[in-house]
Amino acid sequence: MNQAVSQDSRRTTPNGTTRFRSFCAPDEIRRYTFSPQFGAHATYRSLYTKRESLEKNAEKPDTNVSLALSEDDLIIGFGVLAYPGHGERWAELQPQVMMEVKAIEVCRSWRSLGIAKGILEMLLCHPLREDKIIYMVGYSWTWDLDGTKKTAQQYRGMLIRLFEPFGFLEYQTNEPNICLKPENLFMGRVGSRITPETEKGFKWLRFGMTP
Ligand SMILES: CC(C)(COP(=O)(O)OP(=O)(O)OC[C@H]1O[C@@H](n2cnc3c(N)ncnc32)[C@H](O)[C@@H]1OP(=O)(O)O)[C@@H](O)C(=O)NCCC(=O)NCCS
Repeated sequence: MNQAVSQDSRRTTPNGTTRFRSFCAPDEIRRYTFSPQFGAHATYRSLYTKRESLEKNAEKPDTNVSLALSEDDLIIGFGVLAYPGHGERWAELQPQVMMEVKAIEVCRSWRSLGIAKGILEMLLCHPLREDKIIYMVGYSWTWDLDGTKKTAQQYRGMLIRLFEPFGFLEYQTNEPNICLKPENLFMGRVGSRITPETEKGFKWLRFGMTP
């Protein structure tokens, strides 16, 4: 379970006021309704289609599950910041230096209103943010190109515009899944308390090498 204190913020949108909450605990998440728009569409399937997936994530140490809620407590967007799973390349930089923006999603009828930006703000309200290298991986085959009416290149550009203001930079890597498609994206935010040695380790890791 997480010890971090939840943050709360609000934003007015044409769809009504949205509330953002960080570090939501499983019992808090259970009080809200999950938008049925997080489901299977013709050419796109949401990463999580059940509220329980968010609850499970929220049980893990240091993990930040942040939510965007409509006025009637409907979950209209979510984000998960968590440690990478065992066996993943990014888990090799020890001791638990890297954390991943594992999920960020906004339901279709609430897109382009700054909701993802608000969720990312909440995800990064993390007490360990300056002690971690926070990264995101964008696989183009998971993107909702149909729902956003964007090409993969435009979608990639949108994600860069979303993450860059929070200190994320695009990094090169030879990680095989990321290399499968040129439009795939890998971005990282190096915390201000990361030592030069750890940063060097991150560089080696991106290319699958040990110094
Ligand atoms: C990616 C996603 C989370 C963005 O959510 P969103 O709430 O629409 O994003 P925001 O409104 O906060 O916009 C973020 C930035 O993207 C850009 N953007 C968003 N919609 C845009 C549009 N229609 N046209 C141009 N740029 C747009 C803007 O540059 C915006 O930056 P700004 O606030 O400085 O203008 C959403 O499209 C989604 O849920 N997609 C499916 C899941 C997914 O692909 N997740 C990412 C996995 S890597």
